[in-house]
Amino acid sequence: VFNAIQAAQTLGIAVFSVHGRGYRLPQPVVLLDQEAILAACGDYAPWFHLQVLAQVDSTNRYLMQESVRGVPHATCVAAQVQTAGRGRRGRTWLSQLGGSLTFSLLWRFQCGAAGLSGLSLVVGLALVRALHGIGLTEVQLKWPNDLIVQANGQWQKLGGILIELQGDMEGPSAAVIGVGLNLEVDTTLRQLIDQAAMGLNQLHGKALDPNQLLGRCLASLAEHLSLFAEHGFSHFQPQWAAYHAFDQQAVDLHLVNGQVLPGRVIDIAEEGSLLVETADGVQRFNAGEISVRSAG
Ligand code: BTN
Repeated sequence: VFNAIQAAQTLGIAVFSVHGRGYRLPQPVVLLDQEAILAACGDYAPWFHLQVLAQVDSTNRYLMQESVRGVPHATCVAAQVQTAGRGRRGRTWLSQLGGSLTFSLLWRFQCGAAGLSGLSLVVGLALVRALHGIGLTEVQLKWPNDLIVQANGQWQKLGGILIELQGDMEGPSAAVIGVGLNLEVDTTLRQLIDQAAMGLNQLHGKALDPNQLLGRCLASLAEHLSLFAEHGFSHFQPQWAAYHAFDQQAVDLHLVNGQVLPGRVIDIAEEGSLLVETADGVQRFNAGEISVRSAG
């Protein structure tokens, strides 16, 4: 037992010893359960090949490797504990047991990577709609694909998406769609994150069932990704704009070279780039070129 507790603590899991009684976690943790997740996928359950891992370094890294080995379309890997989560722009994604939902979904496309522009925005749209569907209607999108909410006078990040691609520009291709949703962001975690963040449980006012949440997200992803494969991003462009937190807002664009450009968000283009009015006129930016912050 001592060794198991030590091992748990090295994974960042807080375990308290209660004199004369044993050990306890700071709060109850609902573990991921394959059957419960598939039940929450509803009619889409037969689409998925689901693996629930107790622990993995990164579900994206693992699924990229599995994809090369030929695992089928719509394989989803979810982890109870992720020890080296990858974020966008080379960042790490921090999560704790029960404190976040971390999963990756493999989606194979007939077209090449060149035909997938706007994919990450569609994934954001699918997730925001899943969250609205369970009553979290304040959640919005920050281009290209952060899930955010305005709380305590600032925008707080609830979740992020990291898509890694395999295949040729001509096709076929495969996307490993990694999703990290914060459930609880405690003070220790908040101090380690370089931006304002909060958990969906905190927004909801009580603990969400991670199995329900994952099932609803997967069903929504299946619906949106099949439409995306057929019609591309242009089909979703007006729908995406309806959830866009910074639409028509003054923003600061942080360029990769460190320069900060003030502007006003005009729209999202048909292929998913961001249109911003700057001192030099309307400019178009692709994901990866800039990071957007609310001005002031
Ligand atoms: C971001 O930086 O906003 C994207 C974060 C994506 C994190 C998720 S957690 C599950 C999946 N596995 C990873 O290693 N990263 C993604």
